[in-house]
Amino acid sequence: MPKNNQPITIVIFGATGDLTQRKLMPGLFSLFCKGLLPDRFAVVGLARTDWSSVVFREQMLAGLKKLAPDLADDDRWSDFAPNLHYMLGDATRPEDYETLRTLLAKVEKGAANRLFYLSTAPRFFAPIVTHLGEAGLVTETADTWRRVVIEKPFGHDLASAQALNEVVHATLNEHQIYRIDHYLAKETVQNLLVFRFANTMFEPIWNRNYIDHVQITVAETVDVGDRTGYYDRSGVLRDMFQNHLMQLLALVAMEPPAAFDADSIRDEKVKTMRAVRSLTPPEVAARTVRAQYEGYRDTEGVAASSRTPTYAALELYIDNWRWRGVPFYLRSGKALPQKASEIIVQFKQPPHMMFPIPDDEPIPANYLALCLQPHEGFHQRIELKEPGQAIKLRSIDMDFHYEDLFQPNSVPEAYETLLRNALEGDPTLFTRGDGIEAAWRVIDTVLEVWQNEDAPPLASYVPGSWGPAEADKLLGRNGRRWRHGCVDK
Ligand code: BG6
Repeated sequence: MPKNNQPITIVIFGATGDLTQRKLMPGLFSLFCKGLLPDRFAVVGLARTDWSSVVFREQMLAGLKKLAPDLADDDRWSDFAPNLHYMLGDATRPEDYETLRTLLAKVEKGAANRLFYLSTAPRFFAPIVTHLGEAGLVTETADTWRRVVIEKPFGHDLASAQALNEVVHATLNEHQIYRIDHYLAKETVQNLLVFRFANTMFEPIWNRNYIDHVQITVAETVDVGDRTGYYDRSGVLRDMFQNHLMQLLALVAMEPPAAFDADSIRDEKVKTMRAVRSLTPPEVAARTVRAQYEGYRDTEGVAASSRTPTYAALELYIDNWRWRGVPFYLRSGKALPQKASEIIVQFKQPPHMMFPIPDDEPIPANYLALCLQPHEGFHQRIELKEPGQAIKLRSIDMDFHYEDLFQPNSVPEAYETLLRNALEGDPTLFTRGDGIEAAWRVIDTVLEVWQNEDAPPLASYVPGSWGPAEADKLLGRNGRRWRHGCVDK
């Protein structure tokens, strides 16, 4: 049961889309099964496809059977389904918001809180918020709240993100806006905070005195699939870096927040992102890599001359006392050999090595690998002595994996967590308006150079490989290399 048992209505714009079937409905049904929805709730799906409520329910159940078969077996679906309603509507037509108001009055039968979920193409975000405002559907009262969840991408660049923030702020207060970045709700991403700030042993060494560099990798095996319409206009920097990788960078690098509350945490993240040094055009040429996997241009919906990168690697610096001079290497790509999201904190080499090390072996250095997915946990690389007369060093991993300690399925799906938090009014795992803009500022400087100059050249890589040789050179020129600290070494 939620904190209070007030009725809630969830209105999903773009309800016939993939996200509703794959993530939102399984998330809501799971919350229902766990008793985390109030006794009186309704889900209203709205889209332009001509469905009835009966068809909507059937489609959602079909999705559940396909994508979350364990959940679909739950016989509580028959109790859940009658709370689902569908409205044929066009989010750009003001009169449809009057129809929505009538429908809400009918299903709510009294005062109810409302969560509007914008799961549409991004061009509809601004008009929907404006129309909701004009129709009076998001006006809060003393007893009821109104919240709006906005899917990504929030803007296409800094200017459009600022413009969108302005439009939504004209109708909503910041406390009503929940901008999604599903990476923030991944259990291990949340664990980053606990790892850093509930353990005293890391904080004293978490800085430029002991850390050589940090690597953040988000690798995917999937290619662009049938998302070319969106992807070819966006590319990997907008799709993965502006949001997920920048958020990971902020969580790894931020100062300790004073309290575990939304604003304290988000303040520190924004401060960190603002301290990321903007790259000059020559620095973009030298410190960024962009690449496209071979065969991308043959995909249906992709122009034969497309220069959209499906892989990128960046070398960034954070100009503050803690991090000055420490490179943060970020990389992400599609069609790579493994799905793996991990953060490597590479410590410096021992200042003096008194043990004999063969000339051709590097002096070992510790690292910490934070494994975000798929095998959630961490690996700590340390050196020890091999048994025997001679002093021979061996690198070993002390590791921990969630799957070894907790029940399978104990890690909730990110969207379930996000829906729950939005319903409970906790915005900690959502991006604030200034955070979105701070992340865009970093990415925009790179995008601008990429758009106007031919440097760095667009490289290519073989699908199933770890990306272009240029990405290895980015680290290699400083004697470093990409690590796979969580996946097989
Ligand atoms: C989304 C991107 O935000 O994140 C996709 O738009 C990407 O391109 C996805 O595949 C990756 O998310 P996850 O949770 O599978 O790592």
